[in-house]
Amino acid sequence: MGFIEIDPHEFDERIVDLLGREWGLAMAGTSPEHCNAMTIGWGQIGMFWGKPASTVFIRSSRFTKEFFDTCDTFSVAFLPPELHDKHRVFGTMSGRDVDKTELTGLTPIMVDGTPFYGESALVFICRKAYVDTVDHGNFVDTAAYRRYYERGTDHDDWHTMYIAYVEKILRKE
Ligand SMILES: Cc1cc2nc3c(=O)[nH]c(=O)nc-3n(C[C@H](O)[C@H](O)[C@H](O)COP(=O)(O)O)c2cc1C
Repeated sequence: MGFIEIDPHEFDERIVDLLGREWGLAMAGTSPEHCNAMTIGWGQIGMFWGKPASTVFIRSSRFTKEFFDTCDTFSVAFLPPELHDKHRVFGTMSGRDVDKTELTGLTPIMVDGTPFYGESALVFICRKAYVDTVDHGNFVDTAAYRRYYERGTDHDDWHTMYIAYVEKILRKE
């Protein structure tokens, strides 16, 4: 499960496509046994406060949020195409109800105290810098409020944004 490190300034992937179409895994925890991952389709990679940075958006109902709130670091990882079907577990089931590691057969590993699955093709190791929750009063795009926060089980299930410095980018060798 060898990885090589990539300089964030040399990173040249189609990140909008990766996140929006192939999806990522947001994962946090303190050990391979005490961690949780979920599928994410929204996120950003760029610069903030003078450093390469990423932002992920996690609704308050997600079990993963408990790990994001108690850990200083998290990972955003991308599985290779042949493992894409694992998102059926990571994106529809909660770690409150099932052990996703056991169910998917993937191998959680720790690098710099941050968990991710060793089968990943690409991994961002991120250190939290700023955390804030979407606020009803701040919507400019009010249609987004109606679409994403007003209905059914999503009602008031706000996204918290985790802005984090990208400490390492790892690509499978
Ligand atoms: C394609 C896809 C993208 C998703 N993107 C996000 C996201 O960006 N933020 C979020 O809070 N939930 C997102 N979800 C939903 C979570 O992955 C899902 O609710 C998951 O079961 C939560 O697991 P947990 O309770 O173990 O954290 C997405 C689901 C799918 C299928």
